[in-house]
Amino acid sequence: MGIEARRTPIQTFYAGLAIFITGGTGFVGKILTEKLLRSCPDISTIYLLIRSKKDKSPESRLDEMFEKPLFDRVKNEVPNFRKKIVPIIGNLDTENFGLSENDKNILINQVSIIFHVAANVRFIENIKTSTIININATATILKLAKLMPNLKSFIHVSTAYANCHVKHIEERFYSYPINHEDLITFTRNLHENIIEEKISRISSQWPNTYTFTKAIAEGLLRDESGSLPVGIFRPAIVSSSAEEPLVGWIDNMYGPQSVTVSWALGFTRFLSCNPDVKPNIVPVDFTVNALIASAWNVYNQFRRGKANTLIYNFVSPVDGPTWNDYRNAIVDTNKTYPLYNAKYFPFMIYIQHKILYRICVWLGHFLPALIIDAISICINRSPRMWKLCKKIDKFSNVTQPFRTNEWSFSTDNVQKMWSHLSSEDQKIFQFSMVGFDWKKYLFNHYMGIRLYLLNEDDSTLEISRIKYKRFYWRHQILKIVFAFAVFWIVWLVFTIICT
Ligand SMILES: NC(=O)c1ccc[n+]([C@@H]2O[C@H](COP(=O)([O-])OP(=O)(O)OC[C@H]3O[C@@H](n4cnc5c(N)ncnc54)[C@H](OP(=O)(O)O)[C@@H]3O)[C@@H](O)[C@H]2O)c1
Repeated sequence: MGIEARRTPIQTFYAGLAIFITGGTGFVGKILTEKLLRSCPDISTIYLLIRSKKDKSPESRLDEMFEKPLFDRVKNEVPNFRKKIVPIIGNLDTENFGLSENDKNILINQVSIIFHVAANVRFIENIKTSTIININATATILKLAKLMPNLKSFIHVSTAYANCHVKHIEERFYSYPINHEDLITFTRNLHENIIEEKISRISSQWPNTYTFTKAIAEGLLRDESGSLPVGIFRPAIVSSSAEEPLVGWIDNMYGPQSVTVSWALGFTRFLSCNPDVKPNIVPVDFTVNALIASAWNVYNQFRRGKANTLIYNFVSPVDGPTWNDYRNAIVDTNKTYPLYNAKYFPFMIYIQHKILYRICVWLGHFLPALIIDAISICINRSPRMWKLCKKIDKFSNVTQPFRTNEWSFSTDNVQKMWSHLSSEDQKIFQFSMVGFDWKKYLFNHYMGIRLYLLNEDDSTLEISRIKYKRFYWRHQILKIVFAFAVFWIVWLVFTIICT
């Protein structure tokens, strides 16, 4: 039996195909590229859209990316993988991405599958930039897709929260009070402030420009994709990998990991959060497996005559952890694996009341920051804590709606897709979260943050544990001093009133 004969249906689908990925250098894109190379070994080429950044050429950026331990496994398993990667130099904010005529022709004539992963994921980006990257670039790629004679599948990565203006989110298109054409025209012709003014009533239904522009991009695909085999993949909050290629791998700060980092380092102690709400986390490797399967599924469904765009809500299962479970797991693991670079004893209090939260932030975050900065200035060091606290506070405020609100999702298309997978594909492209071991995942999630985001390994563990104990006792003493101070003030006020 030949090697090809042993390929699974998904591997067979990808065999010999050329794939175009935007956002291949990002958090999700890196795992997607790695997994395609490793688990679909007969792919002919992966064209990666990439721009120059910080004086680094696209080629040197790619070399640097493939040097990372994340790609060690693919290096061993598919030694010739690098030959399959072809950089396509382009920037989403430029007309037609600034593609050369040659690159454009290559893409049009060669590509069969598109994964449009790239986006501007900054929550509080200005509306112009968000519209150009998240909507206009999607229009450009759709135009390109329409010219591709071999196109089998075009997957647009959206977000589960693109339609968070409704409480129950189904796997279907929604209508919006503004369309992509108007918004793009505004960004071309009007000043930022005037656009904001014009659309503020509409966009205020979304908590930020990111989710708003992602929604309008979905509207664009609804109106413009025609008979193209398009799928929309909407992941929830994508977080560290559960299994592969490395357990707990993460390199992005946008999900609950941002909370963990600032908390474990001792910078923050109070969080505006409803402990019963679920953070709706999905592991990045499961997300990518479902994404790969979705291109295969879209192709099969369209071949069988399904003409509508398939939409996949890839979200955490209903028995996923709450913010309370998340905190307990992280606190427990941190006790055993504290951080060497921690600045204070890590403890986290969730507060739902807005005013109380602001008071705690001022007393518990900003006041200590001010004191530390004042001491720094006195000893001729540059003050940094106030600035850092303001940055953390701003980020915390924009992510707050996702810690205090909950949405429900229909996931029928994802479930059906899973049931269509062969048993071999279910093993290789595991994305079912039924019976998922959250305890193990959250342990590895913390360990991944410690290792991959904060560069702390076990070589500093012994000293970190000693530091942790010292911080613990300092914190207990501070609590006693604080309790005495409160008691003394109350007693003082009481005696003044009584005399
Ligand atoms: N992470 C999540 O929790 C999450 C949740 C739901 C949905 N999503 C969706 O998943 C996708 C990937 O997210 P991510 O977390 O991987 O984001 P990310 O790490 O910020 O990656 C974004 C990618 O887009 C590229 N990009 C941005 N602006 C570009 C431009 N002007 N020209 C060319 N490339 C550009 C970036 O390239 P550079 O490397 O050059 O910057 C990077 O490769 C996005 O569509 C996002 O909306 C993510």
